[in-house]
Amino acid sequence: MSAEPATTLSVIPIPGREGAVEVPWDGETARARGVFGFDSMDTRSRSFNLIRARLLEMNMKRGWRMIGVVSATPNVGKSFISANVSASLSRDPRFRTYVVDLDLRRGSLSDFFGLAPESGLRDYLQGTPGVDAPAVYHLEGERLLIMPTMAGKIHSAELLAGERAQTLLRSMRVSDEKNLFIVDLPPVFANDDASTAMGRLDAYIVVAEEGKTKQREIQDAVNLLGDARLAGVILNKYRGGVVSEGYGVDDYYAAGYGQAEAKPKS
Ligand SMILES: Nc1ncnc2c1ncn2[C@@H]1O[C@H](COP(=O)(O)OP(=O)(O)OP(=O)(O)O)[C@@H](O)[C@H]1O
Ligand SMILES: [Mg+2]
Repeated sequence: MSAEPATTLSVIPIPGREGAVEVPWDGETARARGVFGFDSMDTRSRSFNLIRARLLEMNMKRGWRMIGVVSATPNVGKSFISANVSASLSRDPRFRTYVVDLDLRRGSLSDFFGLAPESGLRDYLQGTPGVDAPAVYHLEGERLLIMPTMAGKIHSAELLAGERAQTLLRSMRVSDEKNLFIVDLPPVFANDDASTAMGRLDAYIVVAEEGKTKQREIQDAVNLLGDARLAGVILNKYRGGVVSEGYGVDDYYAAGYGQAEAKPKS
């Protein structure tokens, strides 16, 4: 009788708060770093709360727990949105929210949260000796759990398609139902990384920058990833002003979302 090789279906425990490294954090640090989603009193958290509400609705209707954050072009604010939406989600005690940095080359979540990971996701994915699970960080006083990476020139496509990445994504999938994962990804047209990771995620958000991202670019990204899994399009750096100047975020939901909404509850 030939059993599957142990490695193909292996699962690792996803560390919870007890296995996480606690780092100093307070409201002032959060504001200085542009992370507003933790503070419901800050008007700048409002748009993230709206996005949170949509994601929780989709969680209820469709069971979506693993959400990628992508864009067509670089530098539109994916990591800013990932950090803030996950901060907002983490305030809901019914769930345990993780934000995962799978932008292996330009990962910047560690900058948003002021982390200097000794061993990040990259070490786990590369099979660095002694690193058998991704390091998880926890901000003092908050519930959010962070899996950062260290940016660098690496063969990210091979790493993301590799055994360890597949094990991690499978482990996230089979982990506790109340775990939600916001996954920061590179732009879809930069390389294959976002598409590869999306193979194991439930849905995605497209971040667009007002005045910069073209409708056509959003459409091309949606065509590539498929509109059935489109959770929404977020217009970032929106000057129309739902929140204060400079940090505006407007979420508008594209055709794909409308379609998803129109489908009857299963
Ligand atoms: N709404 C906003 N208001 C002000 N600054 C913002 C806003 N969104 C993003 N930024 C800033 O713009 C810069 C780029 O944002 P971010 O790193 O989130 O983009 P990205 O899409 O993740 O980039 P990359 O493609 O390199 O991963 C950061 O310095 C971020 O703090
Ligand atoms: Mg980024």
